[in-house]
Amino acid sequence: MTLVRVDHVSFGYTANRRILDDVSLDIAAGDTIGLVGESGSGKTTLLRLLLGLTRPDSGSITFDGKPLDPGNGAFMRTFRRQAQVVFQDPYSSLDPRQTIRSIIAEPLRSLKIPGDHAKQVGDALEAVGLERDVGTRFPHQFSGGQRQRIAIARAIVPGPRLLLADEAVSALDLTTRIRIVDLLAGLSKSMSLLFVSHDIGVVAALCRRIVILEKGRVVETGDTASVLANPKHPYTQRLLASVPRLSLNEVSS
Ligand SMILES: Nc1ncnc2c1ncn2[C@@H]1O[C@H](COP(=O)(O)OP(=O)(O)OP(=O)(O)O)[C@@H](O)[C@H]1O
Ligand SMILES: [Mg+2]
Repeated sequence: MTLVRVDHVSFGYTANRRILDDVSLDIAAGDTIGLVGESGSGKTTLLRLLLGLTRPDSGSITFDGKPLDPGNGAFMRTFRRQAQVVFQDPYSSLDPRQTIRSIIAEPLRSLKIPGDHAKQVGDALEAVGLERDVGTRFPHQFSGGQRQRIAIARAIVPGPRLLLADEAVSALDLTTRIRIVDLLAGLSKSMSLLFVSHDIGVVAALCRRIVILEKGRVVETGDTASVLANPKHPYTQRLLASVPRLSLNEVSS
């Protein structure tokens, strides 16, 4: 079943080219997709469009068969529960003045999700490998990896069907990165994952499909193992040539 369909989407201009240029992409329910491309290729812009934060200039995005329309308040309220995002920097993304419990409960409050929030927060903490009772503490009491677990807990607490991760492991050291990738791999069994990364080694370990973005265009897409074994597009070949073999082996082992 197709959860998200990006159909011939174009958006904005930068340096005389489109920021996103005729992008088409399907995300199936339960799929894990790696979105790879150089800095400035439009990855974050595409995530913003997928979250309904920005509207495409042309083309359309549908979620569960319905058009994603930032102007449709009723639709956006139900949609926001179903698509959540995790960002790169676990330091700036958590409010230092709030307790962990309050941070993770924020989507439950703002989306007015009924039920026992304390229990839902505890369940989310457990799902990301933290103790239920850490909720009374503050972000500064946690390491970068633990903070990223907290950011992931906040993203999964409303029960999304789509998780978007924008360089969510890039700021972490290698050991921590592998642990968080493992966590995302586990979570991806119950939701679709679109994972943005510069790191093809991590994408190889985590994602069933890969989408290569160059200057706002999708230049290659397919099954990750086949694309990496036999890259067709010169840009993909260049990207792969710049990846040290060591890091590919380390992350997939
Ligand atoms: N609001 C904006 N107004 C004008 N240009 C923008 C805006 N947002 C992004 N851009 C431009 O769009 C292009 C794509 O930016 P984007 O942030 O999507 O790239 P990215 O692939 O996420 O890069 P990175 O890997 O560095 O995060 C860049 O050239 C950027 O300068
Ligand atoms: Mg970006």
